[in-house]
Order: sequence, then structure tokens, then C-alpha cells
Amino acid sequence: MAGKNKLVFSGVQPTGNLHLGNYLGAMKNFVSLQKKMECIYCVVDLHAITTHQDPKILKENIFETTAGFLASGLNPEKSIIFNQSSVSGHAELAWIMNCVARVGWLNRMTQFKDKAGADKEKASVGLYIYPNLMAADILLYKATHIPVGADQKQHLELCRDIAQKFNNDYKAENFFPIPEPLIQKKISKIMSLRDGTKKMSKSDESEYSRIDLKDSSEDITKKIKKAKTDSAPFPENEEELNKRPEALNLVNIYSEITNSSVEKVLNDFRGKDFSKLKKNLSDALVASICPLGKEIKKLMQDKGFLTSVLKKGKENANKKAEENLKKIREIVGLL
Ligand code: TYM
Repeated sequence: MAGKNKLVFSGVQPTGNLHLGNYLGAMKNFVSLQKKMECIYCVVDLHAITTHQDPKILKENIFETTAGFLASGLNPEKSIIFNQSSVSGHAELAWIMNCVARVGWLNRMTQFKDKAGADKEKASVGLYIYPNLMAADILLYKATHIPVGADQKQHLELCRDIAQKFNNDYKAENFFPIPEPLIQKKISKIMSLRDGTKKMSKSDESEYSRIDLKDSSEDITKKIKKAKTDSAPFPENEEELNKRPEALNLVNIYSEITNSSVEKVLNDFRGKDFSKLKKNLSDALVASICPLGKEIKKLMQDKGFLTSVLKKGKENANKKAEENLKKIREIVGLL
């Protein structure tokens, strides 16, 4: 049952199609946590604009990410579902956290280095201080448990440092709880279908690198058929599997989707051709992902309903945020 002070918070950027990595690495866990704890799930539109977004497309993507939350099984009667920019406390606390976080800490963030690329001088300031906004998202609600994929681990460590430093600097012992990352082991990082050493990502140029939740059954079958594998026969054991990134990724996805252990998958396919696993994997993906895609498309036809979900979420989130912000302003000495 719900622990008294436990609170889950997580966010997803509305920057394009949700993919299998988002679903398995994060959103599926959002849904199971909803049964056990109080949860707040946020469409992080302020994070999205750290790289330029076409305003019309951004609006659509905010709705679509909301639809993705609902289609995955989030229930707006149980969880708070809202978009970040509708609660201004996120931006206010982010500013305070900009003054708590150290430049040296941000300089270590690998995601900034990856996203900014070779020409860091041209990246937006927002992209650089993005992890402070993420810390503010979490701390605004004093959230304790944060379900994310492995790529967000470093940002969560920074959030823990920020919380600690705020508590120390302002002699506000234990004011902010130190949030715990909840990272699923096997599927913490779903890899690209074209390169088992790169994570599956919205920004990958190749559509064949990822399965989108809105993909048709034909798309899914084609993509899995084309998924890169090595030329060796099906791995004999986990030790061998762990040395073969593409094989490991497909086996991990299959094991997660079919709810079976990696050991069982290895036993079932030992001695068989890789195409056999691919066939079963695409059938399993079609069965579990296509209904989500259909539901997203259906929900997108009813923007009135999606707007009402976000509005209700905003009201509830704002109430909690304002309560905490009142204390935060007092602690900091703002009138
Ligand atoms: P975002 O929008 O990039 O991704 C949303 C969630 O999906 C996970 N994820 C993956 N998991 C496994 N394998 C993959 N290939 C994969 N790709 C994405 C991400 O880890 C994430 O959990 N900064 C965050 C959003 C955010 C947030 C927050 C999260 C903003 N504020 C506060 C938690 C708490 C992001 O850009 O996620």
C-alpha cells in the first residue's frame, strides 16, 4: 500500500514519437507504480524547448505524449498527469536551483556533451542548465522515487547533490528528501536496432533504429526483420549473450515483452536460427505495441478530453507545488 511520504515523479519530453525505449524503460514502470504509490507524471514541454521546436508541432506532441501516457495505462483518476509549463513553479524553482548548482557539476553532464555536439558555443543556455530544471521538477513536489531509464542516472545524481546542497546551505535539514532513482535492470537501456552500442532514441536519423508506439504491424515486422544481428549462431548462454550487444538487445526486449526470463529465452531458442527469435519477437511486439498505437491515435481525435485531463492535473499539481514553494521562498528569504 501507499507509504505515507512516498511520492513518485517522472517526466517525458514531447519531442516526437514515443518509442519502445520510452515505453519499456520508463512508462511501463510508471503504470505499475501507479498501483502502489501516489504518482505525478509530467509532459516536460519546457525541457523540449531547450532545442528549437516548431510551435505547432510542439502543441501536437504535448497532446500525443499525454495520449501515450493514457494509452499505456496511466489513469488520471489515480495519477496526476499534466504539462510542465502549466505549473509556473517549475520555472521558479529551476531559477533557485540554478543558484544552488555549481558550474563544475553541470560541466560533467555527458548528455549535454552528446546533445550539444562539437559546437558547444552554439547550444542554448537552456540545454546546458536543463539538469537543474529536471532537479526542480522533482524537488518541487519533494518526490522520493523517480522511475527513469539508465540514460537519466547522471541527472538524478545531480538532483541528489542539489537537494543536499540546498538543505546544507540553508540549514534546512532534511527539507528536500534525497530522491531514489528507480531503474529497471534488464531494460534500463533499450538499444538501437541498427547498432547495439547506441541507445534507441527519437533523434536517430534512421527509422529502422527504433520501434515507435504508433508503428503499424507491417512497420514492426519490417524493422525487426532488418534489425542488425551478428553472424554467429544463437548464443549458448548468458555469458556469450552479454558479449554480443545486438543479440542481447533483442533477447532482452523479447524476454520483457513476453514476461519470461532471459534464461528461458536462451533455452527456447538454443540451436535455432536467429530469424526464429525475430519472427516471435515481431509477433509479440505487434500484439503488445499495436494496441497502444491505436489507442494513441484514437485519443488524438479527442483533444477536448486530453485538454481536460491536463487541466485537472495542472490544478492538482499546482496546489502541491504552491504549498512547497511557500516554504521554499521562506527558507531562501524571499518575500
Ligand atoms: P526523455 O523524454 O528523453 O525520455 C523519457 C523516459 O524514457 C527513458 N528512455 C529510455 N529507457 C530505456 N531505453 C531507451 N533507449 C530510452 N530512451 C528513453 C528515459 O530514461 C526517460 O525515463 N530529462 C528527461 C525527462 C525529465 C524527467 C524529469 C525525468 C524531465 N524532468 C524529472 C524524471 C524526473 C528526458 O529527457 O527523458
